[in-house]
Amino acid sequence: MSTNLIILAAGKGTRMHSDMPKVLHKVAGAPLLIHAMKAGAALDPAHTVIVAGHGFDAVSAAAIDFDEDAQVVLQAEQNGTGHAVLCAQEALAGATGDALVLYGDTPFISQQTLEAMNAARAEFDVVVLGFEAADAGRYGRLVMEGENLERIVEFKDASDEERSITFCNSGVILSSNKHMFGLLEQVTNDNASGEYYLTDIIGLARKAGLSATAVACDEAETMGVNSRADLAAAEAAFQSRARIEALESGVTLTAPETVFFAHDTYIGADTIIEPNVVFGPEVTVENGAHIRAFTHIEGAHVSRGAIVGPYARLRPGAELSENVHVGNFVEIKNATLAEGAKANHLTYIGDASIGADTNIGAGTITCNYDGVFKHHTEIGARAFIGSNTMLIAPVTVGNEAMTATAAVINTDVPDGALAISRTPQVNKPNLAVKLFDKLRAKKKKQQEESK
Ligand code: UD1
Ligand code: MG
Repeated sequence: MSTNLIILAAGKGTRMHSDMPKVLHKVAGAPLLIHAMKAGAALDPAHTVIVAGHGFDAVSAAAIDFDEDAQVVLQAEQNGTGHAVLCAQEALAGATGDALVLYGDTPFISQQTLEAMNAARAEFDVVVLGFEAADAGRYGRLVMEGENLERIVEFKDASDEERSITFCNSGVILSSNKHMFGLLEQVTNDNASGEYYLTDIIGLARKAGLSATAVACDEAETMGVNSRADLAAAEAAFQSRARIEALESGVTLTAPETVFFAHDTYIGADTIIEPNVVFGPEVTVENGAHIRAFTHIEGAHVSRGAIVGPYARLRPGAELSENVHVGNFVEIKNATLAEGAKANHLTYIGDASIGADTNIGAGTITCNYDGVFKHHTEIGARAFIGSNTMLIAPVTVGNEAMTATAAVINTDVPDGALAISRTPQVNKPNLAVKLFDKLRAKKKKQQEESK
């Protein structure tokens, strides 16, 4: 059966104290909303509808950037979770199958949990995701009778007896579209908050003779973000899970607690990651690579056997083939290094392609930007770029060519040629001694005058 995903993301997030809508704050380099969309993708939704309100345009842009087929609908006033889901009704008018409701500020619902809910749907008309709360606080309480969920009672409306229930509502609900919207049309705002509660559909379903149950998940999965402290806690939770997953998949982390992953980092087995390495979004590291300490990598692909760092920076579009070495204080952006190429010290390579087994000397810079346009540098295979070479792009250095130390290259260097571009050296006999004497005399005079 097809599933339609509805993500509630209209709330302001007052406690974030932010100009940015809450669901756009990031965990592991991705907005909370995208984590929710990725979670929902586990059920391969036919339609995805985001209910947005505060910061509508920004939320809409982020949603569509992640999934161009996502529909974003406006909930102009936040009249409650039930009202929010109803705002998605029109967008799903022609859709069949199930409706799954997730919250945009709850990033960690797992694929297994959603699959378990989907499995329970085979037997029950409505399935709610619940959790045993360590501190049930103000969560809605799940009133169970055996495996049947009878109703959900919001904290504000609950009796003391109901408040003593510790099995709580996560907010995630799954039922057919038909029942979801049919039941919601009957929901009123006659309650302690004056809001339209999504949770009221359970009691209404039971009255209508429909069945309902709750599937339980770990409380950590239902962790929501309401404040900067929650955001930091969510980041920490993500990172500790990502470290464990990396270790379990065969990655060596010498100091796991100092390595930070993005939501989509892929690290192959037998890779070694030294302390204090940070991964930004869109990084793939193939098996057996070695990422040395204090390296920052984003938007890059590192192939087998490559060695990166210590203190290296790979920026978007860095493509390192097998056995490439990138050493300390080397920055690479939008550049391809073919197999066995080496840039070991103090270098900037931007908008370039470097051939196989080419050696880039210390202090080399591709001067790729003229202040307005970016230009490409092409270096062939088995070339040798002398230390402190400035490559003024656009420029090409051929296969097996060399540039002499301190060369300023603004014309193409043919295959096999040696390019020398610097003023010839002149040695003036004894001139250093004379110059030292003169300078020291001047200093002495200044010191005497200031006494
Ligand atoms: C809701 C549940 C409660 C549950 C808790 C779990 C209801 C009535 N209550 O309570 O049972 O234990 O979540 O965290 O459903 N939102 C909108 N539009 C609205 C209202 C809310 O988009 O008009 C969004 C919010 O941005 C948020 C989510 O829905 O992402 C939940 O809203 P929130 O106000 O936090 O609900 P709670 O009172 O916490
Ligand atoms: Mg809440």
